[in-house]
Amino acid sequence: MEFCKIKDVELEDVDALIYLCIPPERRDFPSFVEGAEAKRRWARKSLEMFGGVAKIAFLGDSPAGLIQYQPKLEDKVLEITCIFVPERRNQQQGVGKSLLNALIEDAKKPKHYFGDAPPSALVTWAFGVPGYYPQNMFYLKMGFKKAVENNPFLLYYPLKEGYVYQPKAGKFTPQPEDKGKALIFYDPSCPFCMYFTEQIKAALSEAAPNLPVRVVNMFEEQEEVKKRGQAPICAVNGKPITAFFLDKKNFQREVEEALTET
Ligand SMILES: CC(C)(COP(=O)(O)OP(=O)(O)OC[C@H]1O[C@@H](n2cnc3c(N)ncnc32)[C@H](O)[C@@H]1OP(=O)(O)O)[C@@H](O)C(=O)NCCC(=O)NCCS
Repeated sequence: MEFCKIKDVELEDVDALIYLCIPPERRDFPSFVEGAEAKRRWARKSLEMFGGVAKIAFLGDSPAGLIQYQPKLEDKVLEITCIFVPERRNQQQGVGKSLLNALIEDAKKPKHYFGDAPPSALVTWAFGVPGYYPQNMFYLKMGFKKAVENNPFLLYYPLKEGYVYQPKAGKFTPQPEDKGKALIFYDPSCPFCMYFTEQIKAALSEAAPNLPVRVVNMFEEQEEVKKRGQAPICAVNGKPITAFFLDKKNFQREVEEALTET
């Protein structure tokens, strides 16, 4: 008997994909309701454009884990945006490995959006979440390589023999309309997106109570992202804020410094 069943996410599975990530006690919070809706729109549109966005692992009838991906068309690589086995009782049984192996097999097939060729590699920014086995350790165990020696999180898995992933160094190009305001860029493929956006807004309003804030959906407003090159999570007065918003002291110091610049 198969130990777990891997299913490609179709329209009917989008809510299962969303709610695998949101703990039940948070599902009615307004920021998670909004985040779930943003993800629903992203998933439906991406399914229509690319035919696939994620795979879910089922243990019996219950969803136990997910792997989510999207093409990076300009680099001809498939980006894994998340792998997650949320519940401890389902971890360390091979669910994560089964999801990744299913994606690797799938990725070897031609894709219409890569001109009927397979991608050259899987790439991922393997960020960590406190309390969980780190994604980057998992991927390194699974044969991924570092794209840049001194960056432990940017990893790739070549699908073409001899392929070496060389990430382009992007730069944020502020626009004239960014002066005197804050921009928050969010990725709607994560259902925590609006929760994080609210946290950033709160940190901003402590440092600069009257600062106007513009929130940009990075999937639905791609032109806004493209014209600014490499979008940070937050920019103030045209300057990217590098400190993470939970690092309040440094985040607020950077905000104040950005506002004193002309
Ligand atoms: C990474 C993750 C997906 C692995 O899932 P999993 O189903 O537990 O992993 P598997 O059972 O398939 O194990 C795969 C490998 O990782 C190792 N591994 C997994 N969890 C481990 C742990 N806690 N400690 C040490 N090794 C571990 C396994 O030993 C195995 O290696 P092996 O083949 O050499 O034995 C899971 O731990 C997870 O979800 N972590 C959080 C990831 C995250 O932050 N996602 C973003 C959420 S927003």
